[in-house]
Amino acid sequence: MIDFDPLEKHLARLLERHDQARSPWTYEDLVQRMQERRLDGMARRLGDGPVDLTSVRAAWAAGAGPLHPDHARALETAYLGETNLPWYAENLHGHLGRGHPLLADFFRRWVAEEDQHGRAFEIYLLMDQAVPPGPMLDAKTTMLRAGRPAPATDPFEIMVYTSIQELSTRVFYARLARVVADPLLADLLRRVQADESLHLAFYRDAVRLALHQRPELAKVVHRGLMGFREPVTVLPDYEERKAVIWDTGISNLKVFRTEVVEPLLRYWGLDDRAARDRWSG
Ligand SMILES: [Fe+2]
Ligand SMILES: [Fe+2]
Repeated sequence: MIDFDPLEKHLARLLERHDQARSPWTYEDLVQRMQERRLDGMARRLGDGPVDLTSVRAAWAAGAGPLHPDHARALETAYLGETNLPWYAENLHGHLGRGHPLLADFFRRWVAEEDQHGRAFEIYLLMDQAVPPGPMLDAKTTMLRAGRPAPATDPFEIMVYTSIQELSTRVFYARLARVVADPLLADLLRRVQADESLHLAFYRDAVRLALHQRPELAKVVHRGLMGFREPVTVLPDYEERKAVIWDTGISNLKVFRTEVVEPLLRYWGLDDRAARDRWSG
């Protein structure tokens, strides 16, 4: 097991960097923009004359953001990944946060920020009914009831896993932001992506510090990269979701290899051909 005590001052610096770099954001802007857009759309559609209730309802329905159903599905899948937070928190608290005060300190910030991501996506999806709300709740319930076996229990391995997860998430949001037709959603995704970048920076740098201390831990990185699985794979319709997402080009094996696996290996100064090959496609 890695000894984090000698890394104390480095971890403190990573924590400080996170706090200084993060720009706090709220839901207010999101909710206000969605409401104003809806009202503006309705006003445009209804005009100045007297209107009947049926027309008002039709104008309301037409006032939702312009989001392709496949992108809505991709966002819903991202939301489900974020909202599975209780199980990530259980794992990180049990095996990472408890042993070291600085890691615990970072971990608690991380929980608050991840919670904010899931709630912001939920607000967006529900306010515009971008996907049917009933099945969305069913999927969330299924995911939470499935629980989550810990992907790792050793603190170093957890940080390797989390680095992969954070970068994978960041890449997903960045690519989704580039293709969605709704600028309001693109702005939200970029905000969340900025948080993911800071999460990644902490875990990825903590891994690099530990690798300097004990280079033989490269084998743990190898194991993490070979066995990585997205948390949403527990969803019964995961394969169907994956097919939709891969069709959009937001994500696929090549994206994962070139934008997640290879950058991490480069950053950690490792040459792991088997890990790259594992994700070739
Ligand atoms: Fe997140
Ligand atoms: Fe994150």
